[in-house]
Amino acid sequence: MTALLEISDLHGGYGDSDILNGIDLEVRPAEIVTVAGTNGAGKSTLAKAIVGLLPRLRGRIAFRGADLVGRRTEACVQLGIGFVPQVANVFPSLTVAENLQVVSGARDRKARMAELLATFPALAPRLGQRAGSLSGGERQQLAVARALMPRPALLIMDEPTAALSPARVSAAFELIRDLPRLGVAVLLVEQRARQALAISDRGCILDGGKVVMASEAATLLTDGRAAELYLGQARQEAAAAS
Ligand SMILES: Nc1ncnc2c1ncn2[C@@H]1O[C@H](COP(=O)(O)OP(=O)(O)O)[C@@H](O)[C@H]1O
Ligand SMILES: [Mg+2]
Repeated sequence: MTALLEISDLHGGYGDSDILNGIDLEVRPAEIVTVAGTNGAGKSTLAKAIVGLLPRLRGRIAFRGADLVGRRTEACVQLGIGFVPQVANVFPSLTVAENLQVVSGARDRKARMAELLATFPALAPRLGQRAGSLSGGERQQLAVARALMPRPALLIMDEPTAALSPARVSAAFELIRDLPRLGVAVLLVEQRARQALAISDRGCILDGGKVVMASEAATLLTDGRAAELYLGQARQEAAAAS
């Protein structure tokens, strides 16, 4: 199958030194790909690089044949990429309805909002409520709904479960698992690697701004070396706590 997103030999960073050190990665239509890796591996930097938010970048990012390197975020949205950043992904002082209405690049806003409210039923009764007063799970749904407003073919999510209470995490993964049925492929950046891989088709592990392993999700879930890599941080934390 032809790739939707094809990244090759991507380097870049914020200041003088590179954070991304030659990334290769592919996302095919309507599949879920997890990007795992410990804290500081470069996962958020990679997500930002794809949507034009990294100041310095070289290499190739092809999305449906268009090269994204050097493009602004709005152009990436127009081409069909949605981005849900880890924080600041809704406007807290605006209502739920306003949060959806102000998304730029969306056509047929009313019809699209109706579609998304059917997909995220928790939001429908809260349209007039300020986003800042939503629960963590509702807020997360709003952030995803906002990103889906322009009908992207690819949704990039940066640690969507990080701010959720443990009880909400499974529901969030279930919501993500269903996105391909809406025709959306997902690039899922997650520290909860096992749960993310369980709903993914494929995955890769970043370390030091490089892909150190890439495989079918099922393989990464059973491979001992992979677990060592993506669970490294959990082990360090456990060791520090004991
Ligand atoms: N805005 C920034 N300016 C400078 N360095 C940054 C910035 N954001 C992240 N970094 C650095 O880039 C590296 C990778 O960070 P990040 O991509 O956030 O990792 P991850 O998301 O995998 O935890 C870290 O060393 C971090 O300190
Ligand atoms: Mg991060």
